Amino acid sequence: MESASETIRRIFGNKGNSLGSEMAEVSSRYDALNSVRFPKPKETRYIAVANQKGGVGKTTTTVNLAAALALAKQRVLVIDMDPQGNASTALGVKHNSGELSVYDVLEGRKSIEEVKRVSSSFKTMDVVPSSIDLSGAELEVADLGNRNDLLREALEKFVGSSKLHYDYVIIDCPPSLGLLVINAMCAVNEVLIPIQAEYYALEGLGQLIQTIGLVQEHYNPALLVSTMLVTMFDKRTLLSKEVFDQVSEHYPDIVLQTTIPRSVKISEAPSFGKTVIEYDPRGMGAVSYREAALEIARRSPQVLKTIQDRKQRSK
Ligand SMILES: Nc1ncnc2c1ncn2[C@@H]1O[C@H](COP(=O)(O)OP(=O)(O)OP(=O)(O)O)[C@@H](O)[C@H]1O
Ligand SMILES: [Mg+2]
Repeated sequence: MESASETIRRIFGNKGNSLGSEMAEVSSRYDALNSVRFPKPKETRYIAVANQKGGVGKTTTTVNLAAALALAKQRVLVIDMDPQGNASTALGVKHNSGELSVYDVLEGRKSIEEVKRVSSSFKTMDVVPSSIDLSGAELEVADLGNRNDLLREALEKFVGSSKLHYDYVIIDCPPSLGLLVINAMCAVNEVLIPIQAEYYALEGLGQLIQTIGLVQEHYNPALLVSTMLVTMFDKRTLLSKEVFDQVSEHYPDIVLQTTIPRSVKISEAPSFGKTVIEYDPRGMGAVSYREAALEIARRSPQVLKTIQDRKQRSK
């Protein structure tokens, strides 16, 4: 039987219809993704999605990569470290004030085991929700000697005792460089930086890299900026291409070749408590996030080796 992409190609293909050929292209990328196996990383990959700049796509990237990986049979734990709770919303998890959340974990009242929820959409995805109460945590734990290590300690305890093996732990960070972000960076081995394809994209990146440098120096020497992902890419504009080229020039081994297009479906999905992977599975947004996830998965051997080497060297 003719596949959907073949039908689209038959109807629109080679007729100079740009919408038609774009649909055919996305459709064949969708088919290709469905026939590919995602390699499982040998060890858990711990990734913080961070950029102190607001609205660059951190949360969108966290939830959609997590969904793409879960769809590809990877076991994923998402931790929402932003008091805004946008990742919890997008994953359809309640996060009202007073609800058990990562706030209780940081303050030592509850374990991750006790607060995590199984995602209603993906059996292999668990979510540690945030809550607005988390905005008080920075002050409340400020005097603790281990204030930067609260998440790391809780995560180590959880992973050490859990019956489940996670392939990926992905943490959504708030747009700041405060205690919550430092906790996230101390709990992971990798930072993924989403970069919005816009004029000021690289401004502020220096400050972020500097903060990561401080975390490496004082707390977590093996921490690696493993991945950059250009988001809200508009292929009709020269500017988007320029941003991608600039990031590629500065960080050739880090930036993913996949970019995430600006798409209305991506921005609509959270209002339905869904990721775009479920909301518009055949669209450009879902396909791009799945391709980005595949690129990340395929880089696992190299990334894990680099982290291992850094851990050895810092001993
Ligand atoms: N590829 C995209 N296409 C269209 N809209 C997008 C895309 N990615 C993100 N958005 C929208 O842009 C806004 C900001 O995205 P998002 O919340 O993921 O950024 P953020 O970096 O997590 O923001 P914050 O700094 O507030 O945590 C949201 O309304 C989101 O739906
Ligand atoms: Mg966010």
